[in-house]
Amino acid sequence: MSSPWERIPLDDYENHMKLSTVQQLQKLNEIMKSQIDKYNIETVAILGVAGGNGLEHIDCSKIKVVYGIDINQDYLDVCKEKYKNLDDYLVLKKLDLADIANDLPVADIIIANLFIEYIGIDMFIKQLSKKVPPFVSCVIQKNLDINFVSDSPYTEVFEEISLLHRNIDKNSLVNAMSTIGYSLIIFEEHLLPNMKEFIRLDFTNNKIVVRHSNVV
Ligand SMILES: C[S@@+](CC[C@H](N)C(=O)[O-])C[C@H]1O[C@@H](n2cnc3c(N)ncnc32)[C@H](O)[C@@H]1O
Repeated sequence: MSSPWERIPLDDYENHMKLSTVQQLQKLNEIMKSQIDKYNIETVAILGVAGGNGLEHIDCSKIKVVYGIDINQDYLDVCKEKYKNLDDYLVLKKLDLADIANDLPVADIIIANLFIEYIGIDMFIKQLSKKVPPFVSCVIQKNLDINFVSDSPYTEVFEEISLLHRNIDKNSLVNAMSTIGYSLIIFEEHLLPNMKEFIRLDFTNNKIVVRHSNVV
């Protein structure tokens, strides 16, 4: 069965996310810049890349390859067109990462912003443990009210997604990451309008001799 994400037009998703009352696209863009700049890395994999929000922060003199993974081919097509300037640096792949038969790309950092909510912590851990990247940076959403979708004219579009979405508990994620050798190195809370909060969690793997050690 196809994912409900394949039935959401990218414009509806992005227009909802950037409403002045929601402002999540803008905040994710800002966080993505920091996720890319923070570490001395050459390869990046973005899970749930959608239309490529934040890819303008890729500096091709530093980054050699950016993988963008998504289940929705239409999103990837828009992303390819929008970031033509990234040329061969940008490798986009349609993959369902809830299917353990599909592998993550090999990369120095895995970025997963508002993505774990759709495959769950267990599958995320299983996927990471196959490749064990040196760094993992993710954003999860905390709802200070009951709804995970902020009110907007687009709310109806997200009804099907609500059935797939699960709230990710910060401590459960940190504990699960520790079982495969990851320690928390960054914890940030970003308050948003509409009683929502983004939590950024960065991890590094203790079992790897970290080549990229200039965490700032
Ligand atoms: C909430 S959006 C995150 C968007 C993006 N990270 C941003 O900064 O705006 C979740 C994305 O994950 C993708 N996605 C959901 N389930 C997936 C799966 N099982 N495998 C791959 N991509 C998936 C969706 O198509 C969507 O683009």
